[in-house]
Amino acid sequence: MSSKQKTVFVCQSCGFKSLKWLGRCPDCGEFSSLAEEVVAAAANAKSAAVMFPTDTTAVQISKISCQKEFRLNTGIGELNRVLGGGIVAGAATLIGGDPGIGKSTLLLQMSASLPDKKEPILYISGEESALQIKIRSERLGIDRKNIFVLTETTLENIINEIKRITPMIFIIDSIQTIFTLDLGSTAGTVSQIRECASRLIYIAKATGIPVIFIGHITKGGEIAGPKILEHMVDTVLYFEGDKGHPYRILRAVKNRFGSTNEIGVFEMCERGLLDVKNPSELFLSQRPINTPGSVVVSSLEGTRPLLIELQALVTKSNYGMPRRTTIGVDHGRVALLVAVLEKKLGMHLMDQDVFLNAAGGVKVDEPAVDLGIVACIASSFLNKPVAPNMIILGEVGLTGEVRGIRSVEERISEAAKMGFEKCIIPKQSKLRAKFKKMITVIPVQSINEMFELLFA
Ligand SMILES: Nc1ncnc2c1ncn2[C@@H]1O[C@H](COP(=O)(O)OP(=O)(O)OP(=O)(O)O)[C@@H](O)[C@H]1O
Ligand SMILES: [Mg+2]
Repeated sequence: MSSKQKTVFVCQSCGFKSLKWLGRCPDCGEFSSLAEEVVAAAANAKSAAVMFPTDTTAVQISKISCQKEFRLNTGIGELNRVLGGGIVAGAATLIGGDPGIGKSTLLLQMSASLPDKKEPILYISGEESALQIKIRSERLGIDRKNIFVLTETTLENIINEIKRITPMIFIIDSIQTIFTLDLGSTAGTVSQIRECASRLIYIAKATGIPVIFIGHITKGGEIAGPKILEHMVDTVLYFEGDKGHPYRILRAVKNRFGSTNEIGVFEMCERGLLDVKNPSELFLSQRPINTPGSVVVSSLEGTRPLLIELQALVTKSNYGMPRRTTIGVDHGRVALLVAVLEKKLGMHLMDQDVFLNAAGGVKVDEPAVDLGIVACIASSFLNKPVAPNMIILGEVGLTGEVRGIRSVEERISEAAKMGFEKCIIPKQSKLRAKFKKMITVIPVQSINEMFELLFA
């Protein structure tokens, strides 16, 4: 690096700047996160603004024209659901996820399923060659003339192509591979990500062309690069899933144009991602019947109740410290419920290892599954199965009381749809007559009462 070039040390985790190198970022506390970057020449910094000029005068809100159909239908039902009904004009969306989870697949499939078959779609890839994308599209059975692929990492060239093609939507795969010539730093650094994303978002807002960024995630599971990236975009989605399972869950963590509670469920197969219309069926498909330690609960994801099987295994511990291992369920919550079981039911779990798993690689973090957790731990401990046609709903308090939960009716109608005949619910939960007819409802007030019902 020439001595004339002005450089600055930038924290790769939070974007903090320092004139000299520091071992620890004073702003976010991260160790060894400062990297030397050349200060922007700022010569072309306005290039995007010159190419896509916008009106800079303030306007009355009532005078802003708004088309009625302002959401772009992606053609993928589950994706639409997570986005809140489709992509809003000029919106910037960020999709993060583990390597190989299917981010590129999802967006390539989306490009092919957009209802408009004429308007160009620009897929910009900095990670894969055009040939590799072609091979994927052959596997997915995609053959659309309006999908344009650009394998490019230089921001300036990308902007030129956006201007030339004027697509209906453009996709950046991934934002960490794009760099602008105005900055001396390499692609993937905080300044590059921030600068490139801000210019592309500017174009999206100025032209109304939506942009979708793919983002890598760090070991900790957050989107790599500055946290500010998540503030800059309108929608942040995480694509999750367990490597050992074909199910993938798309979750909104930020959405300026929709609810963040909704999830989309997909199944990954050779032909790509398939919408899962009935996730409960999928999650319950391999459930063992009449086996101790297996209980079905309902977790509400957005407006959609999912039926999930919880499995517990309680075995004699060989160590002084019994283990409490959980997959897909909050560890602290399970430890708490084990303590309640000990105290209120006198169940001796101090010398027992407790393993708990939400089957199918899903995550449940809702208090409404507490009672189900208690039931499946007790069932495994006592080696007595819970009736297979039973579903268990309710939150458990520290004194062993069963507390009311939200949306009991929705959960019950989902359970009835899936063929369940009995349902344990909190006594407080009120049901309309229609729902009482669907299923045999058993209200309980405490875990002791449930225990009597299930195992006496
Ligand atoms: N022939 C196949 N049959 C079934 N699944 C496949 C097949 N080929 C690829 N896949 C699935 O597609 C996934 C890769 O998808 P994709 O490349 O879209 O992921 P990505 O999230 O973009 O990854 P990266 O972060 O590396 O870009 C694989 O992990 C695998 O699950
Ligand atoms: Mg990819």
